[in-house]
Amino acid sequence: MRVQVAIIGSGPSGLLLGQLLHLAGIDAIVLEQRSADYVLGRIRAGVLEQGAVELLDRAGVGARLHAEGIVHGGIELCFGGARRRIDLHGATGKNVTIYGQTEVTRDLMDARAAAGAKTVYEAEDASVHGFDGRQPKVRYRKDGIEHEVECDFIAGCDGFHGVCRQSVPQAAIRTFERVYPFGWLGVLSDTPPVAEELIYVNHARGFALCSMRSRSRSRYYLQCALDENIEAWPDERFWDELRLRLDSATADQLVTGPAIEKSVAPLRSFVAEPMRFGRLFLAGDAAHIVPPTGAKGLNLAASDIHYFSTALIDYYASGKSAELDAYSDRCLRRVWQAERFSWWMTSLLHRFPENGPFGEKIQRAELDYLAGSAPARASLAENYVGLPY
Ligand code: APR
Ligand code: PHB
Repeated sequence: MRVQVAIIGSGPSGLLLGQLLHLAGIDAIVLEQRSADYVLGRIRAGVLEQGAVELLDRAGVGARLHAEGIVHGGIELCFGGARRRIDLHGATGKNVTIYGQTEVTRDLMDARAAAGAKTVYEAEDASVHGFDGRQPKVRYRKDGIEHEVECDFIAGCDGFHGVCRQSVPQAAIRTFERVYPFGWLGVLSDTPPVAEELIYVNHARGFALCSMRSRSRSRYYLQCALDENIEAWPDERFWDELRLRLDSATADQLVTGPAIEKSVAPLRSFVAEPMRFGRLFLAGDAAHIVPPTGAKGLNLAASDIHYFSTALIDYYASGKSAELDAYSDRCLRRVWQAERFSWWMTSLLHRFPENGPFGEKIQRAELDYLAGSAPARASLAENYVGLPY
């Protein structure tokens, strides 16, 4: 088989790229090692920057997002026993939209199926070849049969553990990493959210986050140990601990119910440079990871795909590769901005065992500074709603 672009991975990066290329008349195939149901079963963040919403509109998958997504003009910080609002819209003129990544993925899968676009699920042992030359190839196995796809370009949209980044010679790639000494214990429940907007909590017992998927489905997180045993967290213990970390007025409002999902996720900052190796381009989690505190993971995947899709469309229209040549630098400039912001928000809100009393005083001084300074809040807001593409 021959296509113009072979896309490895059907997460949001691969599916969004596939859809934008399809609309531009560029022939692509998506190869995914898991089943569609498995991909849809992964629970991830749910905050979309305006830029990501505009890109999903451009991809023709904005209808349900606009009908069901909840537009938020602010977030709340809770510390010292009280909530303080950050007026995102007032500071920036922009909003964020609450719409789960699972729903974004479902909309993109549906659009792909409706367009009759080629997707191979349960494609085993994908491998990438010849991307340093002019005729790259991807090989994979499906139902015991080996397949080979010839292409012009390979899009490595295969996430942090994918094969694409690992196929690049060590000498050609540099990685930067910080692993945080704690995780997030997350619970999804069919209960109404405790507040209209998201609440990020700094508390002596550890960070907490009150988020949501809809007006009837909540998502809550607690900072926990990296080796936390989920079995030790029956629902009641989770709700009790969350109440302890909230201010008392909010704790009184909390509606609890059975957890429909419960999991521990580690926090990591990671960047691979560059993001392009000959005819192999990395995008999304394959190239970078942010801790979830600023909800930037999916949004960074979207900006990568914006740069990559416009570069490919320009290449096929003009025959010139200047946009493709600029891809890695353009992405990385924005990636590092989001890395900085996610690291900063993580540092501001979590308990770090190594910080000690001095570190805690500094953290509290920074929170007080935010509470008292409109320019400080504007800086948080500008980053939270997303820096321009
Ligand atoms: N062959 C085929 N598919 C693969 C391979 C492989 N060897 N390795 C991984 N994949 C698939 C995974 O099964 C997954 O479906 O690639 C996909 C990668 O998807 P994501 O991990 O969701 O990455 P991405 O599309 O870049 O999405 C970024 O997802 O993880 C969140 O925080 C992140 O919100 C951000 C978004
Ligand atoms: C979520 O709803 O899962 C979520 C929201 C905001 C974050 C992280 C996760 O910063």
